Amino acid sequence: MKKQFLSAIAISAILVAGGCYYDVEEDLYPEVNCTTENQSYANDIVPILQTNCYVCHGQGIGLGNVTLEGYNNLKVYADNGKLVGVISHDSRFPAMPQGAAKLSACNISKITQWVTDGAPNN
Ligand code: HEC
Repeated sequence: MKKQFLSAIAISAILVAGGCYYDVEEDLYPEVNCTTENQSYANDIVPILQTNCYVCHGQGIGLGNVTLEGYNNLKVYADNGKLVGVISHDSRFPAMPQGAAKLSACNISKITQWVTDGAPNN
């Protein structure tokens, strides 16, 4: 009787631990799949900025006198270091996106790699 009770506890512990393990693996999954090589301005960078930045830095909005929509506008901030500085929360720059959570590590890596590659219009 006592032995049965103990094995019931052991089985529940395994089930609970198994559940936690599954959750953790699921959280890590997107980062494992984060591709940062050969980032495309049109297909990779623009969608990130569209979601997180254009609300304040789109064409005709330009908060803080900064417009990031359009390749030539963005290139200025890619080249002067401010784009990577603001998203990586470098203390020399105002943290962006302003008033919102920091971009995911994957998106920061994608933008940083694109800038390192010379911010191509690809
Ligand atoms: C809620 C509005 C808002 C959002 C969203 C936002 N910004 Fe800004 N941004 C501002 C304002 C206002 C300023 C100017 C004030 C300041 O320098 O703090 C600014 C300034 C900047 C600057 C210039 C910094 C400098 O040192 O001159 C850059 C670059 C920038 N933002 C990039 C971004 C990027 C990239 C995103 C998206 C990841 C983003 N911003 C999202 C409001 C926003």
